[in-house]
Amino acid sequence: MRYDKHIFICTNQKPDVKKCCGEVAGMELVKEFKRQLTEHGLKGTVRAQRSGCIDACEFGPSLVIYPEGTYYGHVTIADVCRIINEHVVAGKVLEDLELKF
Ligand code: FES
Repeated sequence: MRYDKHIFICTNQKPDVKKCCGEVAGMELVKEFKRQLTEHGLKGTVRAQRSGCIDACEFGPSLVIYPEGTYYGHVTIADVCRIINEHVVAGKVLEDLELKF
């Protein structure tokens, strides 16, 4: 695998009345993840990128981290630091944000 972790952040915008991740904070989250991963020196080993719908729309803004396949919902800019420090670096799932299907 090319990266130790790969974070897909939904930035989808749908042309309907349902609220979507991209309209709430999707791109801001992508930028903040990239900024903080660079700050932590993780740029080459952990990749954060935007994605289309990850089928967790009602919990948006949503993201998924691989290889674990852990989904997080209702993610805010303030959560980025915790997700990097606790999940990406320490390997601990943030139970208050985790989506269980
Ligand atoms: S619109 Fe973001 S998960 Fe579907």
